[in-house]
Amino acid sequence: MPAPVIAAQSLVKTYKVKGKPDFVAVDGLSFEVAPGESFGLLGPNGAGKSTTMKMIGAVSTRSGGDLQILGLDPDRYGPEIRSRLGVVPQQDNLDGELNARENLYIYGRYFGLPGKVCHRKADELLAFAQLEDKATSKVDQLSGGMKRRLTIARGLINDPRILLLDEPTTGLDPQARHVLWDRLFRLKERGTTLVLTTHYMDEAEQLCDRLIVVDKGRIMAEGTPASLIREHSSREVLEVRFGSDRNAQVAERLQGIGDRLEVLPDRILIYTHDGETALERITAAGLEPITSLVRRSSLEDVFLRLTGRSLIE
Ligand SMILES: Nc1ncnc2c1ncn2[C@@H]1O[C@H](COP(=O)(O)OP(=O)(O)O)[C@@H](O)[C@H]1O
Ligand SMILES: [Mg+2]
Repeated sequence: MPAPVIAAQSLVKTYKVKGKPDFVAVDGLSFEVAPGESFGLLGPNGAGKSTTMKMIGAVSTRSGGDLQILGLDPDRYGPEIRSRLGVVPQQDNLDGELNARENLYIYGRYFGLPGKVCHRKADELLAFAQLEDKATSKVDQLSGGMKRRLTIARGLINDPRILLLDEPTTGLDPQARHVLWDRLFRLKERGTTLVLTTHYMDEAEQLCDRLIVVDKGRIMAEGTPASLIREHSSREVLEVRFGSDRNAQVAERLQGIGDRLEVLPDRILIYTHDGETALERITAAGLEPITSLVRRSSLEDVFLRLTGRSLIE
């Protein structure tokens, strides 16, 4: 086993809140990230994902536990660590007054790269981010997806060993998300270590080799997307709708069909290895759902199982 590039042991972050006890945002996270791995933190808003990313990025100090980034303690080696990381924060912080190319160039200079190198890297990265024709456009004029790709390009200017991405596609439309996923996939293929946070289960399934499911600052589960689904859900899910005022009442008559039921406000989820057979049993019992759908289990089902809540509320 190669040495991990990130090792967190019982990592804690508390925030001071006026007139109240300290608020525990990260409550004892332990995890390791191997070189070249694509590692995810999946959890709802407020889970402590950004707080964890800021500690990994050596821009926020931990309140407890141990943390090593590339073998270094961020408390002592902040600048060294920051110079070897690429960071894509949750909120884009590009300079809107400058054009796309200038944003890359200036960031490279900030890292102390020679001007000539910055020019060359800016061109390479604009090509990578598929923004060549936007090189001289002001950042304020770019779409959300373009800004996100530019922020990723900027994060790559120092050839980082690790790229940290905090909610890389939140707020983007489906097409822009797919373009972004494709770019991140390429980075992964090149061996860049990716650490990303997301509250989208499909994003985690697409991009993460391994992930932790986080809720209220704690790890609820850890594994590959497939192993998490295997461990915490059934193979298939039958979704049936009987109308919002009838779902709860009908659910009582569905007990015993499938391994487990989840009654959501708008639908009932029946966890089973065989959704079609479950549906046949329901209709055989004289119940006619308005709509029905059989699908594979997803990380959303894992999260629902572990927390009793939906990931996106
Ligand atoms: N600077 C801060 N001061 C006080 N509380 C904070 C601060 N930053 C974040 N929090 C709180 O910590 C919790 C975790 O926040 P955050 O790490 O941003 O979660 P996530 O990124 O998973 O949505 C939230 O309840 C948030 O309100
Ligand atoms: Mg966040």
